[in-house]
Amino acid sequence: MVLITGASGEMGHALIEALAKEGTPVLAADVRQLPHGLAEQCVAVLTGAEGDVTSPAFVERAAQFPIGQIFHLAAVLSTAAERDPVRAHRVNVDGTLAVLSLAQQRGEQVRHPVQVMFPSTIAVYGFGSLEEKQRISAVREDQALHPHTLYGIAKLHCERLGEYYTNHYMQLAGEARWVDFRALRFPGLISAETLPSGGTSDYAPEMLHAAAQGITYHCFVRPSTRIPFMAMPDGIKALRMLANAPAEHLSQRVYNIGAFAPTAEEIAAIVRRYFPDAVIEYDVDERRQAIVDSWCADVDDSAARRDWGWQPEYDFERAFAEYLVPAVTRRYRQITPVQQ
Ligand code: SER
Repeated sequence: MVLITGASGEMGHALIEALAKEGTPVLAADVRQLPHGLAEQCVAVLTGAEGDVTSPAFVERAAQFPIGQIFHLAAVLSTAAERDPVRAHRVNVDGTLAVLSLAQQRGEQVRHPVQVMFPSTIAVYGFGSLEEKQRISAVREDQALHPHTLYGIAKLHCERLGEYYTNHYMQLAGEARWVDFRALRFPGLISAETLPSGGTSDYAPEMLHAAAQGITYHCFVRPSTRIPFMAMPDGIKALRMLANAPAEHLSQRVYNIGAFAPTAEEIAAIVRRYFPDAVIEYDVDERRQAIVDSWCADVDDSAARRDWGWQPEYDFERAFAEYLVPAVTRRYRQITPVQQ
């Protein structure tokens, strides 16, 4: 059985659908109710305190299921975390510790490692200035690890915690492992089906969803802002590829993955190309701007390509032409995009 925490979030949606389609039994956990149509695809759903990774009720209840793999998606995103760092630390760090302990106990009980898949982020990187950001065009996993935000600090710490749990319990167990932690540092994800909440890369999906609904969009970063992005199907594909990679192929437990890295203005231009009436204005929020300015312009994902064959399916053009524009149009059915 596969446990998914944060199951009603953006990535949870897409992952449940992918797993359920293959008949994998899913135990979904989220403090919120799962949206209609999603809960039905799971064999069991934990919500309220039982779905809250910070609550003892979660650990107690989840321990009753035969969990072999965990996708630990529950987290407070970057902008929301800056607003309430104490809550974000509780959810993002204490919640991860609870999930790792759950995995360790279950692994030890069944004498087999429980895999913990963890979405980390480009927010673990931190540059002191825009000049410094521009100097390193594609950051490696071991560079510039000086996160400015609580979100980035917490994710970086959790990467280390995951590595620690994997190695510490191996030392205690001799040759066996009880936890098999693997993490991906995701770029901003763009989904046609859902909108993120509380993230700082949200301007890209928000711009597209607003255009498809004929709503004016006030972009909260400067046109020249550049960070990496990825279409949601590639995010899910990457998670599953890393999960399925043979352990002996992995030279590290934390991997960058990239797809495309446009500026905000390049995103606005492609949105306008498909939705010529889109109104996109710039109304910079200095705090959110400072967050994305501290993140990398792009990532070096050569380790993922070498170790487990990472290759995105969607580049910038293809993501819009073949996934985002058709799906977002179906979703709102208001404005017909221009055929390219
Ligand atoms: N998309 C996330 C955010 O904006 C970054 O990982 O918070």
